[in-house]
Amino acid sequence: MHLNVFTQCTPSPPVEGQWRNPADPTVTGYRQLSYWTELARKLESACVDALFFADVHGIYDVYRGSWAPALEHAVQIPAVDPMLVIPAAAAVTEHLGFAVTFSTTYHAPYECARVFSSLDHFTDGRIAWNIVTSYLGSAEANGLGEHLAHDLRYDRGDEYMEVVRALWERSWDDDAVVCDRAAGVFVDPTRVRQIDHRGQWYTVRGPHQCEPSPQRTPVLYQAGDSDRGMTFAARHAEVAFLTLADPEAGRAKLADLRRRVIEQGRAPDAVKALQGMPVMVGRTKEEAKAKADLFMSLVSHEGMLTKWCGWMGIDLAAYPDDAPVGDIRSEGSRGLLGFLARIDPERAWTVADVRRIVAVPPRVHLRRMLYGTPEKVADRMEEWLEVSGIDGFNLFCCPPASGVEDVCDLLIPELQRRGLFRTAYDPGERTLRERYFGTGRARLPYEGAEPALAAPH
Ligand SMILES: Cc1cc2nc3c(=O)[nH]c(=O)nc-3n(C[C@H](O)[C@H](O)[C@H](O)COP(=O)(O)O)c2cc1C
Repeated sequence: MHLNVFTQCTPSPPVEGQWRNPADPTVTGYRQLSYWTELARKLESACVDALFFADVHGIYDVYRGSWAPALEHAVQIPAVDPMLVIPAAAAVTEHLGFAVTFSTTYHAPYECARVFSSLDHFTDGRIAWNIVTSYLGSAEANGLGEHLAHDLRYDRGDEYMEVVRALWERSWDDDAVVCDRAAGVFVDPTRVRQIDHRGQWYTVRGPHQCEPSPQRTPVLYQAGDSDRGMTFAARHAEVAFLTLADPEAGRAKLADLRRRVIEQGRAPDAVKALQGMPVMVGRTKEEAKAKADLFMSLVSHEGMLTKWCGWMGIDLAAYPDDAPVGDIRSEGSRGLLGFLARIDPERAWTVADVRRIVAVPPRVHLRRMLYGTPEKVADRMEEWLEVSGIDGFNLFCCPPASGVEDVCDLLIPELQRRGLFRTAYDPGERTLRERYFGTGRARLPYEGAEPALAAPH
C-alpha cells in the first residue's frame, strides 16, 4: 500500500477552524522551517511514501463576493510557498518523497520545468508534481495568468504538458555534460537542443536550462474530478489523487479511470490511485471520541463555506435555499457536485443541502472518515483497498500536527503488523517513481499519447 500525508503551508490544514486549537503548533509552525523538517523526519521514520502539499494562488473571494471571510477564517491564507520548504525537508531525509502542487494556469511552463528539475536534483529523484489547472480565478487579478473557462484550462494544460515534457525529456541527452577540463568544454552543445514549441498558447524555444535530473520528469500527480479532468489524468497522470465517495462507488469510478487510461494507449496499471481521506486515530475508543469532539467543535462552518464556494466557483450565499444546484453553472471545480451525484444520484440537491453539507463536508463526517482505534482504522483501510481497488491513501491528518503523530505512532505500526505496509524503505527503489513502479523505472515510460518524446533527437 502507498501512504502519503497531505498538508498545506497554512495555519490550519486541511479542515477550516483548527487554528483555534491552542495545542496545535501548525498555526505558527507553517512558516518555520523547523516545523517542516521535523514533520519530514517523523514521516520518514514511519516509512511514509511522500508528503503531499496542496496549494493555491490567489485568495478565496467567491463566498459573499468578498475575500474578508477567507482572512477571518484562515482559509489557505496566510500561506507560504511549499516549493521553498522542500529543499529543507529533503536535506534532513533520504527516502521521503515530496509531491507539490503547481498550477498550469499561473506559471509559465519553462519556469515549471526549471523548478521541478531543480527540486529533482536537490531531492535526488524524490519529487512529484500535482498538476492543477487552478479553480481560483482571483490570481488573475495579480497578473499571474489568464483564468480560462474550465475545459479550456485543461486544453491549455494539455499543451503545457507537451512543453514541459519536451524540456525534461528531449532537450538534453544524458551524456550532454562532458565536464572536459582539458578541452575546456563543460556541456557538449551538440547533445542539447531547442524544443521549438509553437502552439495555441505557448511559444517556447528552449533549450531547457537544467541538466537531466534523476527522474527527468517529476512523478506526475493529478486530481481533476470532472469528465475533462479525468481525461486529463488518463492522458498524463502516473498517480491519480481521488476523493471517492465510498469503496463500492469508488470501484466504478476507478474502472472508468482505467478505461480512459487504456483509451489513451497506456497500460491500465500505468496510473496508481490514491484516495484522499481525513484520518483521526485514538489509542482507545474513548480517546478517539474525545479527539473527535474537540476537533468537530473547532470546525469553522463559515471557513468551510468560504473554501467550498471558492472551489466550486459558486457563491452559495447568493441563491435562495430551494434553488437546484444542478441548474447552477460555474467555471470552478465540478468535483463536489459530482461527488454529491455519486452519493445519491436520484436526489435533486438544493443550495440549502449543499450549504449544510459543505459546512461540515461529507468527508469530515466520522462515518466517512478513517476514524477510531488503530485496529478499526486499519480494518476500514483494508476494506477500501479490497473493494475499490485503490493503491493507497493520501491522508488528511486530523488535527494537523498531533494527527500526524497518531498516524505514525499508532496507525502505521498496526498496518505494518498486518503486513499491509513496509517496515523499511526498499534500497532498490532509489527514486519516488521507482517506489510506485519498481526498481529500474526512475524515468517516465514512453508510451501511448506522446510517442514523439521517445526520440531524443
Ligand atoms: C482531491 C483534490 C485535490 C486538489 N488539490 C488542489 C490544490 O491543491 N490546488 C489547486 O489549485 N487545485 C486543486 N485541485 C483542483 C483540481 O486540480 C482542478 O483544477 C479542479 O478540481 C477543477 O477541475 P475538476 O472540475 O476536473 O475537478 C484539487 C482537486 C481535487 C479533486
